[in-house]
Amino acid sequence: MHCVRKVTDDLYWVGANDKRLNLFENIHPIPRGTSYNSYLLMDEQTVLFDTADWSVCRQFLDNIEYVLDGKKLDYMVINHMEPDHGASIEEILLRYPDVKIICSVKAADFMRQFRFHTDNVETVKEGDVKSFGKHQVTFVMAPMVHWPEAMVSFDTTNGVLFAADAFGSFGSLDGKLFADEVNFDRDWLDDARRYYTNIVGKFGANVQNLLKKAAGLDIKYICPLHGPVWRQDFDYILDKYNKWSTYTPEEKGVMIAYASMYGNTEAAANILATKLCEKGIANVALYDVSCTHVSYLIAEAFKYSHLALFSVTYNLNVFPVMANFLEDMAALNLQNRTVATVCNGTWAPQAGPKIIEAVSKMKNTTLLNEGLTVASSLNEDTYAQLEQLADTIAESLQ
Ligand code: FEO
Repeated sequence: MHCVRKVTDDLYWVGANDKRLNLFENIHPIPRGTSYNSYLLMDEQTVLFDTADWSVCRQFLDNIEYVLDGKKLDYMVINHMEPDHGASIEEILLRYPDVKIICSVKAADFMRQFRFHTDNVETVKEGDVKSFGKHQVTFVMAPMVHWPEAMVSFDTTNGVLFAADAFGSFGSLDGKLFADEVNFDRDWLDDARRYYTNIVGKFGANVQNLLKKAAGLDIKYICPLHGPVWRQDFDYILDKYNKWSTYTPEEKGVMIAYASMYGNTEAAANILATKLCEKGIANVALYDVSCTHVSYLIAEAFKYSHLALFSVTYNLNVFPVMANFLEDMAALNLQNRTVATVCNGTWAPQAGPKIIEAVSKMKNTTLLNEGLTVASSLNEDTYAQLEQLADTIAESLQ
């Protein structure tokens, strides 16, 4: 049975939600599920904007059949070919064999690579315009947001921006299609940040390019491929996107991430958090990297201005889960952060220098200390150094 919503008088959301999937891209936990958004424009010619993941194809097809109500599907605009949106292309081709695909040249290449068989493809380039009757749609290339073939489509008739992966979020919609139907800041922002930072975070410069192009458009609706549709409060989400894509911290505060085996490094991290709070720095978030998925750690690292990284030494190296966090921060281009490090080791404390080496490669990073080294557990001397580090962090936050 169909499950659709109107975005405008003649534009329908025909996507679907998946609450059964545990790992987005088979790597990022999504306890709130995800939506796969697809939109169907009922103009003189009918136009489907993107498809959906194979897991929700049944629902997706029911939705399209209901909205078309016997009309034929004329066009399918593929803004993004990644299989969470492109997987159902072939099913659409089988059911609507006369449909013409509109996509970028690169997307047509990718379609062949994914072995979708059709010759009925019209490739478009930057600024091309297509009329479907009442609606005129302009195509804007958006390479690396988040794949190289990506583009966005802008309907100049009603101001709808089909934004592909931009402005997306983890989380299933549960009927609430529009961002103004939810308390986004309270209930969605963390998942939107985690989606952005982990999926598109590496490509900040490309996102900035797209934002500059979008600034020239009279946008009334932002229709992303995941998460709620925006029809108001654009300044709010644009401000977040500007900060995330320029690697500007959202908040002055301290993310403390620790890797501890027997609790002594953990104790040191807790003491730092306590000392900071005593000094009036209450915006502190503490994470055990061994029991926090790295996608959450990455989102928090993008959020806070200061990072305090604590790691025990393991095989003469950084503890593996902390090493993974450091690798991910580098891979996602995190920069502009102020960092303190604390290392623990019983006989050869090697984690500290290696963390400092990794962090030093991140652009515009300020190191607050040369590494505090704990020998197995805090003693009076290292406790005092930790207090001093709390002072240093507090001063730098002023
Ligand atoms: Fe939701 Fe890059 O695909």
